[in-house]
Amino acid sequence: MAKPRSQYVCQDCGAVAAKWAGRCEACGAWNSLVEESVQSAPGGLAGGGRGAGKIRFVDLESESQPRPRLVCGIAEFDRVTGGGMVPGSAVLVAGDPGIGKSTLLLQVAARLAAAGGQSKSAAHGAACAYISGEESIDQVRLRARRMGLAKAPVQLASATSVRDMVASLDKPGGPAVVIVDSVQTLYIDSLESAPGTVSQVRAAAQELIRLAKKRGFCLLLVGHVTKEGLIAGPKVLEHMVDTVLTFEGDRGYHFRILRAVKNRFGPTDEIGVFEMTDEGLQEVANPSALFLAERRGNIAGAAVFAGLEGTRPLLVEIQALVSTSPQATPRRAVVGWDSGRLAMVLAVLEARCGLALAGQEVYLNVAGGLRIGEPAADLAVAAALVSAATGQEVPEETVIFGEIGLSGEIRPVSQVELRLKEAEKLGFSRAWIAPRRKQGPGKAGGKAGPVGGPGLVIEEIAHLQDLVARLAAPGDLPQKRSGRVQQAY
Ligand code: TYD
Ligand code: MG
Repeated sequence: MAKPRSQYVCQDCGAVAAKWAGRCEACGAWNSLVEESVQSAPGGLAGGGRGAGKIRFVDLESESQPRPRLVCGIAEFDRVTGGGMVPGSAVLVAGDPGIGKSTLLLQVAARLAAAGGQSKSAAHGAACAYISGEESIDQVRLRARRMGLAKAPVQLASATSVRDMVASLDKPGGPAVVIVDSVQTLYIDSLESAPGTVSQVRAAAQELIRLAKKRGFCLLLVGHVTKEGLIAGPKVLEHMVDTVLTFEGDRGYHFRILRAVKNRFGPTDEIGVFEMTDEGLQEVANPSALFLAERRGNIAGAAVFAGLEGTRPLLVEIQALVSTSPQATPRRAVVGWDSGRLAMVLAVLEARCGLALAGQEVYLNVAGGLRIGEPAADLAVAAALVSAATGQEVPEETVIFGEIGLSGEIRPVSQVELRLKEAEKLGFSRAWIAPRRKQGPGKAGGKAGPVGGPGLVIEEIAHLQDLVARLAAPGDLPQKRSGRVQQAY
């Protein structure tokens, strides 16, 4: 018998090395190599592998109708999956431990099972299995009872062995949806490494995904995210599954955001917003109202940004604080936005508008704990900063959006109408926006048609200086170089 060989697998990136090293050569992570024994592939637990088959080629067009997507009825979840889950697909739901993944998926399971029970149709009977590797059956039951879901006909099991799962699921007439919580607890007995290691996670997921494709059930895998923000058992899982949903949120707040970061069957920029309550997660149909709920009227240093998450507009308040610093290097702290982007906006304010903030401490916060990635937030951030520096409030009921270029020009953003509509719906009366795109040859998208209803006064801001002029009386500003404003090119 051949001597069993060892190899060293990086637990962060999955790279394999022949020798142990303190640092992974592929991803540079320290102390991430773990010894695992080399084995040939676990050899088709599903009982395949008999003789070599031939590939059968088929046409792109199918004669039979594709099976309908599985819609659970939780609108926020269905939208993120691209209009329901596709039979035979694998979905990874990733998030920090304790963020609410099990809660969400138990609710999804209950809704699917209840709907299946009602329709009584074999084709649509979304029998739903929930396999927990982390909690005992009693714990899951207790949770279900607290959330008022105990009556839902979910098939519940507590298991961690992939071999057992395959044995019970690899037969016709099985459930339409299988939820496995979590992939880090799974193990395949033919592998020596511990559950949660790269080889176990990869092999277990592979085995279940293969079965999902074969039997046509939709597989929902829960994956915990490590401290570094990687999906543990790392990136290897991301490209094996069809859809990756991340569930995120600040533990200090009640709301949670489900985000599609990869979706083979739908758009990837959709978000679903939920609120964690005593009875589980509630859908938030109007997130703007939630994020603006804590707003305390008009104060200096606050501006409302009309943003966009996926196809959906989202209004959030951006708060800034500017104060003189006792330190040589003043502090800059950002929550919910990119600190590099803040540095850029500050530099443009200084260079193009003569607003001297170099000696000041600057704090920026996106209220509600949301994280914004859109450059369209630049103008609202600048407004909050200027307002904080001058003490002059942004006029009441004003929404702001626009991207700032390095010369101080305000650049157009997408989906202007959608943002304005949302602002109007929430009772805003004024919008400071980037100049709208003129349609012309070579320019993509962007309708320049009439926007906003009668209730909204729209003011286009072409240059950052226009914004500064609106928020500061002359002499109000901490000026740079005897107040001379540098000319923009
Ligand atoms: P859980 O779904 O167990 O998180 P995960 O599976 O992502 O690790 O959620 C755990 C947290 O959610 C826990 O801190 C308690 C809270 N929670 C509620 O506030 N209300 C509820 O109804 C439930 C079930 C959980
Ligand atoms: Mg859990």
